[in-house]
Amino acid sequence: MKLEYLKKNDPRIPSCALLEKKTLPTPWSEESIANMTPQGRYIVADVNDEVVGICSYYLVCDELELVNIAVADRFRKQGIGKAMMRKMLDESFSVCSLEVEEDNSSAISFYRSLGFKESGKRKNFYKNKDAIIMILQKENEKC
Ligand SMILES: CC(C)(COP(=O)(O)OP(=O)(O)OC[C@H]1O[C@@H](n2cnc3c(N)ncnc32)[C@H](O)[C@@H]1OP(=O)(O)O)[C@@H](O)C(=O)NCCC(=O)NCCS
Repeated sequence: MKLEYLKKNDPRIPSCALLEKKTLPTPWSEESIANMTPQGRYIVADVNDEVVGICSYYLVCDELELVNIAVADRFRKQGIGKAMMRKMLDESFSVCSLEVEEDNSSAISFYRSLGFKESGKRKNFYKNKDAIIMILQKENEKC
């Protein structure tokens, strides 16, 4: 398994968008992935040149905001999600936050296994569904 940051005009962008569409409640389009702002980062996991995982986030000042993470069905529970999160968490930051669908118990367990704690709710964040906000605090770094 190989982990890399997606580059501008990366030929894997369509495969990343397809994986997002198959697995996420708020997938990004090819265009949004290709035009992420400079604060955005997009990690791709591949196995034998097949895109099997993606993880996108923003790093603004010393705050990380996870946008999306997904692993293809048949590659789950093999540590790929954790490896992508660890790469993101290697950034210098003080707090990392994310939203997750309140009934997505497997993702909530996944985030808890990395030390994230529930810190609140966003009403109707998804279509007719609330989001749980989860937070991970790190050392107090300044930007
Ligand atoms: C959440 C997701 C990214 C996890 O990826 P993954 O590669 O399967 O996760 P890992 O194998 O790295 O798991 C790491 C730990 O998370 C926890 N975990 C992962 N999947 C879990 C599940 N289905 N149920 C309970 N705990 C789970 C476990 O503690 C696991 O450690 P273990 O394997 O030692 O038990 C993956 O399930 C997924 O793509 N889900 C669909 C998309 C999604 O819901 N994304 C989040 C949107 S907010």
